[in-house]
Amino acid sequence: MLGQVDDLKEVLIPADKIQARIKELGKEISRDYQGRNLLMVGILKGAAIFLADLALTITIPASFDFMAVSSYGAATKSSGAVRILKDIDQPMDGRDVLLVEDIVDTGLTLNYLYENFKARNPRSLKICTLLDKKERRQVQVPVDYCGFCIPNEFVVGYGLDYREGYRNLPLIGILKPEIYTENSSK
Ligand code: IMP
Ligand code: MG
Repeated sequence: MLGQVDDLKEVLIPADKIQARIKELGKEISRDYQGRNLLMVGILKGAAIFLADLALTITIPASFDFMAVSSYGAATKSSGAVRILKDIDQPMDGRDVLLVEDIVDTGLTLNYLYENFKARNPRSLKICTLLDKKERRQVQVPVDYCGFCIPNEFVVGYGLDYREGYRNLPLIGILKPEIYTENSSK
């Protein structure tokens, strides 16, 4: 069964470090958005846990919402075009929108969402990601708040999955390579 902590080769970021960093981000965001009308938008499912913990550290009035997206097939992969499966329930115009993501990898998904959000005329638009794999970037996206820069490894936990498993681990870990190879044909 996928999803065990024993499947990890290494713990990259322990739970207490994640929580400590989120508190710092919350302080910074609360300071930067003082007196503003903050709307946090998380991308399901990866960013759900991060957004929930982050929202609890924000000390100014804020609301949050979620969006669900799926990437199109291989043909459009390089464009990063995504299909919006669930949109947010409230308009963005005039709001100070903070796009909350779990991880920026190639940047394609986030770049697409950033442009999509911008077209909705928010008062301001910023990006907050828990993890950033800078090495893998194909398109530049303006990341305003970042929890941790990480090396080019496939990570799971704290919302991030491999085949829908491991999202509930409270830490960020690197999977053992044999987990992919053993499961690649299933
Ligand atoms: P991008 O469009 O390449 O930046 O893809 C970002 C998305 O790919 C994230 O929102 C994740 O869902 C997924 N992803 C990228 N790297 C990882 C990883 O190391 N672990 C789990 N999911 C990942
Ligand atoms: Mg995601």
